[in-house]
Amino acid sequence: MSAFWHPFADMGAVDGHEVIIDRGEGIYVFDEQGRRYLDATASLWYCNVGYGRKEIVTAAAAQMEKLHAYHTFGDFATRSAIEVAEKIASVAPVPASKVFLTSGGSDSVDSAAKLARRYFHLTGQPDRTVFIAREWGYHGTHAFGTSLAGMAPNKEGYGDLIGDVVVVPWDSVEAVEKVIEQIGPERVAGIICEPVVGAGGVRFPPAGYLTGVRDAIRAAGALFIADEVVTGFGRVGAWFASNRFDLEPDLLTFAKGATSGYLPLGGVIAAPWIAEPFWEGGVMWRHGYTYSGHSTAAAAALANFEILEREDILAHVLQLESALAAALAPLAHHPLVTEIRSGLGLLAAVQIDPEAIDADPGLPARAFRAIREAGAITRAVGGGGLQVSPPLIITSEQLNEMVSAFSTGLDAVNV
Ligand SMILES: Cc1ncc(COP(=O)(O)O)c(C=O)c1O
Repeated sequence: MSAFWHPFADMGAVDGHEVIIDRGEGIYVFDEQGRRYLDATASLWYCNVGYGRKEIVTAAAAQMEKLHAYHTFGDFATRSAIEVAEKIASVAPVPASKVFLTSGGSDSVDSAAKLARRYFHLTGQPDRTVFIAREWGYHGTHAFGTSLAGMAPNKEGYGDLIGDVVVVPWDSVEAVEKVIEQIGPERVAGIICEPVVGAGGVRFPPAGYLTGVRDAIRAAGALFIADEVVTGFGRVGAWFASNRFDLEPDLLTFAKGATSGYLPLGGVIAAPWIAEPFWEGGVMWRHGYTYSGHSTAAAAALANFEILEREDILAHVLQLESALAAALAPLAHHPLVTEIRSGLGLLAAVQIDPEAIDADPGLPARAFRAIREAGAITRAVGGGGLQVSPPLIITSEQLNEMVSAFSTGLDAVNV
């Protein structure tokens, strides 16, 4: 028994059965018993450049020796905070964007939602407070992210959450148009949208969905907020999914892959037209975190970006996109599998038969444990899909090794 309370865990079941991960190397992690696992989830979607990158460690250590951190409230800044914001702005989907830094995805969602409402308050439309969110959506666990969640169990038991949130089906432009009409366009602040739904099951948008929603929300005079906490920094073969789909979001939230998880860092990219009223003078946005622009996290991000660029990892991901689909295809014939979702970057899900899950709700958890026994780490995401989001440096041979562990594990639970 330890004092460590795990997130998203049934502690009664976990206590005494922890899988203690001890070290990492490339696309593999090792537990304390020395067992090697191919990390098919890149931890929680974040380890884009892989484990054991000394260059990031060295950059972080050098920054720590000089100045581990200094706050950035008011007129304070550090060089690494400025440089990381500049770099992110230079690859942002909208030129001349501004970058507000946080410590993670939930911080970023909270910041973006507050910024959207504050923007309308500042520009003379204080009644625009309503957010549209999507079924299956996951936006972290702060108060705003919980309120914007599209999975009901994540909202249960907290009493009144943040008001003025409407949840619509995840895949219908018409549903968004209809709800805008019902609420009244003049009351809508924006929609928050994962370009590819992540924790809700790895669900790819229907063709035309993202631009359709973006156009509908713009027509209402409201903001398109792309939550790219999962899809940012190479996961879909571009800096952001918004670049790949030409979305030009008003606000974009990021985290995870920004540092490949070497240190916690997140943020919000604000299109210039959103930033402008806050930057023209005379306005203070009373928001920010102690670690906004943390110097060492910023240094780690800069080293991470250097690796992404030097090793041309975005192009590698594009090249492997069809190889991932081809490697996973045979699993579609497995009796427990009804669908493989793939086709964009190194992101996919192996859907366990929903009828089998109805009959046996413990099945997805048993499946991911059996796959772990077979040497690859996955996990069950929304609706019983098994997550596939390996480090972006995986090779096509290693994709086959990953699929073979999935296959062995699925066979083991299909008894
Ligand atoms: C799309 C999305 N938004 C926000 C978050 C929250 O990020 P964090 O856990 O870093 O707070 C997550 C985390 O998985 C996410 O997937």
